[in-house]
Amino acid sequence: MNPRVVLRVLTSTRTVEGGGFVVRRPFPVQGVVQADPFLLLDEMGPVDYPPGEAVGAPDHPHRGFETVTYVLAGEVEHEDSAGHRGKLGPGDVQWMTAGRGVVHSEMPSARVQREGGRVHGFQLWVNLPARDKMMAPRYQEVPRDRIPRATSEDGKASVVVVAGAALGAAAVIETRTPIAYHDWTLQPGADVEVDLPEGYHGLAYVFGGEALVGADRRAVADGGCALFEEGGALRLGCDAAAAEPARVLLVAGTPLREPVARYGPFVMNTRQEIEQAFADFRSGKMGEIAR
Ligand code: CO
Repeated sequence: MNPRVVLRVLTSTRTVEGGGFVVRRPFPVQGVVQADPFLLLDEMGPVDYPPGEAVGAPDHPHRGFETVTYVLAGEVEHEDSAGHRGKLGPGDVQWMTAGRGVVHSEMPSARVQREGGRVHGFQLWVNLPARDKMMAPRYQEVPRDRIPRATSEDGKASVVVVAGAALGAAAVIETRTPIAYHDWTLQPGADVEVDLPEGYHGLAYVFGGEALVGADRRAVADGGCALFEEGGALRLGCDAAAAEPARVLLVAGTPLREPVARYGPFVMNTRQEIEQAFADFRSGKMGEIAR
């Protein structure tokens, strides 16, 4: 089957989140449904904090979807209302299924807050199907050494397989709906076709250099996010004359095609369910972080 054709390229906006950290956000974009089942992608940094200035996202709730945090640089400490706490370092992933509700905090580690340093990472929001929105919250913490890596035969393309499979490597994370989540490094001259199941929606977010994506090898600059037609493989590459490698986050999954009602940290199917989420949060049903 021919590689997928690029439908359109979204340009990231810069926005401020949580306690004041700057993110690049390619979507959501009003009216764009081709990212379904993905609700939001934030690239946090890269930012170099002076000592005492690193900021994060203090206590806040979520309901109805999953948050996937992938750290490239720095350390993120998290705590939540179910009593989980932990620290993510470079290469580590946390896949949190908020389900019926959690309150959590996501902050730079005490060391990063004290000493400063580089913070860089991603947070992806993955929608849950209606039948799973009120499931019990759960976590999968996957340290860097359990996340498979692979390199193409010509050595020009390498991938970290957070979810799904690529170049013969398969991820360990279990997802509610089938999902691929890959971190690609494409050296100049790289040209790979990534097999994806036909029914998946796919997108490619460029976060370094310039990538060539899709059947016609469309150039997508740093910060651009290509959305693809449904179909076969997803072609990724980097011009042979490029001065630097391209970095691409490839995210793909089965669309839910369900109504989406979202407000702030809650994503449900109806407005009434959103109002219920606010009521449950205000009355303490999502718990609080014990400190
Ligand atoms: Co959060």
